[in-house]
Amino acid sequence: MTATLDFKITKTQASRLSQVDFDNLPFGTIFSDHMFTADYQQGKWQNPQIIPFGDLSLSPATSALHYGQAFFEGMKGFRQVNGKVAVFRPWKNHARFNKSANRMCMPTIPEELFLESLKELINLDRDWVPHNDNQSLYIRPVMFATEPHLGVHPSESYKYILMTCPIGAYFNKNLKVKIETRYARSCEGGVGFAKNAGNYAASLYPTTIAQQEGFDQLIWTDAKEHAYIEETGASNVMFLINNVLITPNTKETILDGVTRDSVLQLARSWGIEVQERPIPVKEIIDSLQTGKLQEAYGVGTAAIIAPISEIGYKENLYQLADPATWTLSKKITQTLNDMRKGLSHDIFSWNFII
Ligand SMILES: Cc1ncc(COP(=O)(O)O)c(C=O)c1O
Repeated sequence: MTATLDFKITKTQASRLSQVDFDNLPFGTIFSDHMFTADYQQGKWQNPQIIPFGDLSLSPATSALHYGQAFFEGMKGFRQVNGKVAVFRPWKNHARFNKSANRMCMPTIPEELFLESLKELINLDRDWVPHNDNQSLYIRPVMFATEPHLGVHPSESYKYILMTCPIGAYFNKNLKVKIETRYARSCEGGVGFAKNAGNYAASLYPTTIAQQEGFDQLIWTDAKEHAYIEETGASNVMFLINNVLITPNTKETILDGVTRDSVLQLARSWGIEVQERPIPVKEIIDSLQTGKLQEAYGVGTAAIIAPISEIGYKENLYQLADPATWTLSKKITQTLNDMRKGLSHDIFSWNFII
């Protein structure tokens, strides 16, 4: 069997679908039957194929394992009311994928290959896309260096893999976050805007400390002074103060989130004032102390809108009003949900329909 771009499709002989408990979906541990893979060799992408999801065989000298040339993306596909599947804004993820690739000295992927592999894989594993509310298909593209060579230089070869997982809600509670004042996620001139694996590895230790202190997540601050808000561990961050929606402007230390962009476009279309600018930590603490901080959230593909109900800064813990009373976050969540599920008109043409 071949697809439009002429890649080979080898179907699994033993689907695992009937073993999945769709009423109890954890995040990122249940994988759909198939995966897409392609290899970059001799300066071009080769051997594109869909094969049963399974283990890889790698040399212990695989350069990604030693020098970290690896990055990924994260998207979601939603079951629409008409049975089709809508992948949310994959064009933006493709653009960011190639931005990460350039920064990590890795090859880019043509949009056609990115979208076609997505379409064919999801088409084949269509029954893995969950039907229930709050569920979706998480889509994970990843690329890594495969050259078996113990020397620090850009690899000559790479592997691209696309895999999918049916998932439930990422966070099912309000977040208690700590504003980080010691460690940094990224710095000017660094790789904070890329989705490279190393950014996440470096965040594990500070996040673990915060979790031992009873927090769910960190809010990263700038590396120089820890005086400006950046983003959370796996999402951008937004605050509603005096009915103005504020979020740090994107720059090379922050990931340019697809959800962030979508939320800002929605808010602007509703006539809400939006400000993308440096946000001093002091402004957030002042607004907490004076009760002016109305809503705060992490916004990202995995979590969508994750309400922040408590913020720790130095020795103090500040409480926000009960997120159940917030109106803007609910409106954003509902609107995004309705658009993705095909319950309302996709006015921004954000859905990639499969
Ligand atoms: C560090 C970081 N910031 C922000 C985001 C949000 O980006 P997006 O909305 O594209 O998922 C993510 C998740 O991908 C992330 O890992």
